[in-house]
Amino acid sequence: MNFDFETPIPREGTASVKWDGRKGYFGSEDLLPMWVADADFAVPEAVSRAVMARAAHPVFGYTLATDSLYESLIQWMHDRHGFDVHRDWIILSPGVVPSLHAAAIAFAPSGAGVIVQPPVYFPFFSAVTETDRRLILNPLRLENGRYSIDFEHLEQCAGQGARLLMLCTPHNPVGRVWSENELRNVLDIARRHDLVILSDEIHHDLIFPGAKHIPLQWLAAGEGNIVTAVAPSKTFNIPGLGLSALIVPNPKHRLALRKAFELLHLGASNPFSLVAFEAAYREGGEWLEALLVYLTQTRDFVGQYLASHIPKIKLIQPEGTYLLWLDCRELDMNDIELKQFFIHKAKVGMNPGSVFGEGGGGFMRMNIGTSNLVVKEALERIRKAVEGGIG
Ligand SMILES: Cc1ncc(COP(=O)(O)O)c(C=O)c1O
Repeated sequence: MNFDFETPIPREGTASVKWDGRKGYFGSEDLLPMWVADADFAVPEAVSRAVMARAAHPVFGYTLATDSLYESLIQWMHDRHGFDVHRDWIILSPGVVPSLHAAAIAFAPSGAGVIVQPPVYFPFFSAVTETDRRLILNPLRLENGRYSIDFEHLEQCAGQGARLLMLCTPHNPVGRVWSENELRNVLDIARRHDLVILSDEIHHDLIFPGAKHIPLQWLAAGEGNIVTAVAPSKTFNIPGLGLSALIVPNPKHRLALRKAFELLHLGASNPFSLVAFEAAYREGGEWLEALLVYLTQTRDFVGQYLASHIPKIKLIQPEGTYLLWLDCRELDMNDIELKQFFIHKAKVGMNPGSVFGEGGGGFMRMNIGTSNLVVKEALERIRKAVEGGIG
């Protein structure tokens, strides 16, 4: 089957955050949007069909998740990740971010420590601070263009009254797919300090050739302190529909999470997200394979283009996700200048690295979940702006 990821699909006027929200976020509409993590690709046809079929029925009431929906996730996790999930372990949640908040409430009493590893997707911070928990930072290390976890410091963090570790694997924004050894080290530390791990694996299907995503819970083989968050939203480009799943083998943890969701009155009963979720997992495999080929080409193109035309900007080679982490420190601008430079001179809308916390300054996050034609145009704009100087 052929899938067209190349022909750009106009999204202006659909109230898209990424496109129609440019003015609000950047103060300008005159830029190519390569920021918030949704992609510009049409979803698998089976997903559109399922949503349209559901829309044909004129009543949109509260809706149950069917057995068949749970089975679709179980099958996907088995086939793609070799991870056998039991039906009882699954808790549906409207989104992974609500799950981060629920985990902070469920596993760290008010004022208790939660470890987060910046630079990281910024709701990791707010999930801790907004629920009145204490943020403990274990910044990632960057050596020779590659990020790693500082295990010595992680152990010290764990000893500071931490109850929960929020792990991002694959890690947004630095694109690491943590290796088996790294994950084993994380598990060892968590075990020694009796930490619960919230493993945000939302990007687990978006893995480049050569890397392998290992579900933390699978590696831990039955250990009871891991809560895994997954979703079809990034994989199949349906984040606006809002539905995700937590995989929670420990019954005590399920109870604690259910209480937290009840406290927040968060349910998952949207009739469209439910049918899209199931259709994507049941029928989206081939589409995903084609998407990964396309994204790999785009990633490689960006790497080559930067190396030959804009050598002052360096790509941190990503192993997963469609979010590229660009090291712009050689442009020699502070974070305010860098942001202004990309908005007003290059006219490319990316997320400033500083929003991802410590270690993010001097970097930009570029979303390549779009047509290669858009990516080329963005790189050309950036090249011209860099050649023109800060001015
Ligand atoms: C690591 C990570 N977690 C969670 C989310 C968002 O999840 P949701 O839209 O399900 O709340 C994102 C989106 O970019 C992400 O990158």
